[in-house]
Amino acid sequence: MNQTPRQIGEFQDWETRYQGVSVEQLPWFTPDPDGDLLKTLETHAIAPGRFLDLGTGPGTQAAWMAQRGFQVTGSDLSRTALDAARQFCRERGAEVELVQDDILNTTLKGPFDQIFDRGCFHVLPPERRNHYVQTVHGLLDPKGWMLLKCFHVNETTMEGGPYRFDPETVESLFSSHFRVLESRESRFEGSMAHQPVALFTLLQPLKRP
Ligand SMILES: C[S@@+](CC[C@H](N)C(=O)[O-])C[C@H]1O[C@@H](n2cnc3c(N)ncnc32)[C@H](O)[C@@H]1O
Repeated sequence: MNQTPRQIGEFQDWETRYQGVSVEQLPWFTPDPDGDLLKTLETHAIAPGRFLDLGTGPGTQAAWMAQRGFQVTGSDLSRTALDAARQFCRERGAEVELVQDDILNTTLKGPFDQIFDRGCFHVLPPERRNHYVQTVHGLLDPKGWMLLKCFHVNETTMEGGPYRFDPETVESLFSSHFRVLESRESRFEGSMAHQPVALFTLLQPLKRP
């Protein structure tokens, strides 16, 4: 069952959230590759392809993937986040296409071979989740992979913040368009001492309904 965060409103204006701070100070910032992303690439021997880092924020994951030979697009609502991402990618010599885009009203053109969502889905308004599921399904190649990382219901230390999910809820939200290949408890690496409990889900698209 989902929990309603007490301060979900603070996630509604993402542009303001990024203005006036260096991205390194934001709780989700990590210069390192996400552990679940790395594990998935290795376990499933996923070859470089067209990779969408959805809600790329500071662009750290997009940069890593470009350096691994993927053809990367990073999208985000916030122009200021994209400026930071551009700088991060430039400093690392990573070639990434950075696009300002609202995934709930997207102008992105697929197909992508992989879509990675590290912390975007869990901040979206609950009534838009079905729309999100249809959208990412439409952007993915039929043989593609969807990697979803959100807060887990077992994240009880942090006050407020993103919505929390359990595996059953994610499966029921995505089951009209995806099948779940893996679902496991994990951690959100970031700049905080406390690493929030995460739910990592690997999905593959069903044929278009
Ligand atoms: C918790 S941050 C995670 C950023 C990045 N994925 C990372 O792991 O460093 C969530 C990101 O989703 C972006 N976002 C929120 N709603 C969005 C939407 N509707 N479309 C695209 N991006 C969105 C925010 O601007 C923010 O950068």
